[in-house]
Amino acid sequence: MKNIKKELEYIKHIEYYEGLGRHKFNVAKLMMIFVHHLGLDIMYIKKAYLVGMLHDVGKSIIDFDILTKPEKLTSEEMETMKKHVEFGYENTAGYDSEVWRGVVEHHENFDGTGYPTMLSGDGISVLGRCARICDMYDALRSKRSYKSIMSHEAAIIEMEKDIHHLDLELFEQFKTMRQMRGTDEYYPVVQTNLNINANEFKSNNEETKIIC
Ligand SMILES: [Fe+2]
Ligand SMILES: [Fe+2]
Repeated sequence: MKNIKKELEYIKHIEYYEGLGRHKFNVAKLMMIFVHHLGLDIMYIKKAYLVGMLHDVGKSIIDFDILTKPEKLTSEEMETMKKHVEFGYENTAGYDSEVWRGVVEHHENFDGTGYPTMLSGDGISVLGRCARICDMYDALRSKRSYKSIMSHEAAIIEMEKDIHHLDLELFEQFKTMRQMRGTDEYYPVVQTNLNINANEFKSNNEETKIIC
């Protein structure tokens, strides 16, 4: 007889990792078009893509029950969850410093209330500030164990409630970018022929592994 409980657990794992996989691609694509929209050069666009791909790499070490908990996390669980940024240090330490900073600063808030180091304003790298916006936007637009999908408009309203966490100038640019595209079809927007080799941005010769 099949073990239904085990099968359900397995499905939960698959759904979670598919969701996380989509999230990293969504954030990577969004980072790329955002940085392109800001007028930054091709090298920066490639770095932005890598930041998106790697930003939550540390979640692979967090307990699965915490990652998929449908209820609000306790303050202790929240502290554990926040550690995904620190766990990401190790996985990205060999990268170009702008890529590394983008990853480790993706939860820093513009007003200095973020984590892990409470950086503020221009003390946060441009890629870190862009990642804060793109990550938040995709999380709001996506289904999570604790929330359903939001429309573009609802996501922007939600972000405006936490506006002090974001670089206002960059956020204004982000909204302009959305309007310029003139569509709510966010997910399939990017078709790219960019040939991005992550090893280009590493300071050692180890083979690159992007796991999430
Ligand atoms: Fe994160
Ligand atoms: Fe994320």
